[in-house]
Amino acid sequence: MTFKEMTLMTTQTPSTEQIRQAWDSVAPGFDDFVSPLTMALGHTVLDRLDVGPGTAFLDVGAGSGALALPAARRGADVLAVDLAPTMIERLNARARELPNLRGEVMDGEHLDLSDDSFDIAASVNGVTLFPAVDRGIAEMVRVTKPGGKVVLVCFAHGVEHSEWVGFFFAAVRTAVPDAALPPMDPPPLPFQLADSRKLRTKLVDAGLSDVSVEVADWAIPVRSVAHYWDAVTASNPIATRIVAQLTDQQQADVRQVIDGMLRERSNGSPGAVLRNPMNIAIGTKP
Ligand SMILES: C[S@@+](CC[C@H](N)C(=O)[O-])C[C@H]1O[C@@H](n2cnc3c(N)ncnc32)[C@H](O)[C@@H]1O
Repeated sequence: MTFKEMTLMTTQTPSTEQIRQAWDSVAPGFDDFVSPLTMALGHTVLDRLDVGPGTAFLDVGAGSGALALPAARRGADVLAVDLAPTMIERLNARARELPNLRGEVMDGEHLDLSDDSFDIAASVNGVTLFPAVDRGIAEMVRVTKPGGKVVLVCFAHGVEHSEWVGFFFAAVRTAVPDAALPPMDPPPLPFQLADSRKLRTKLVDAGLSDVSVEVADWAIPVRSVAHYWDAVTASNPIATRIVAQLTDQQQADVRQVIDGMLRERSNGSPGAVLRNPMNIAIGTKP
């Protein structure tokens, strides 16, 4: 991929169908490698909410259930929606023993749900990466009951502060200096609300009150370079496309750099814990 194509990929608004296909193609790897790592973040978010039997809980851009599954295990009645059918297939397969969790394919920008119907509408790295993020937030607010909570979780501070993404970009830059990486200005969509003041303003502008934004640490334990590679390359279609431009030898070179970075972090052992500041924003619907 040329630099121009990479730029277009991150600055031109793709169609809903392109977004669906891109996420659907990474869904199997996402479910196998990323969701298990995100469950801990799901619990961190739920610990800040009143979630239990009887809570009507909506997870938007749910992926294969890193937030929805722990919410259902705490007893909530959970509807998990995602644009990508394979994410929802995987989620429903994980939810077989949880009658209080249901996954449905649905566009978060046009929720096919009634006004004022959920106690909590939440999204982890979902709505915050929509190109039409305002529309996604407005939909979450619309379907939340008066007095209910809207919860948005996304990377904080910026790409350079997220080791999960940062290790990958740094290793590609080191091993293949002429590889095309996404432009950082404006930042890639997963970081568009990394500035907590901007995130807060979005929630206030959407009509929410008592808005709080807390930065919490998401510590991701990776066992080895192989484990990290499988997970990071399935975590977002952008990563898949970066890898697609690399030859086998270049990929091996990137992995070698990552191996060195992990070992440097952990006194020579193959795995390490990657730290990521995350914004957890909560607002109340008046
Ligand atoms: C980074 S993943 C996060 C998944 C999950 N929340 C998690 O934390 O594991 C982003 C998810 O948003 C979904 N998504 C993207 N655009 C969407 C839209 N317009 N409506 C619903 N889901 C969407 C993707 O299919 C993908 O599953």
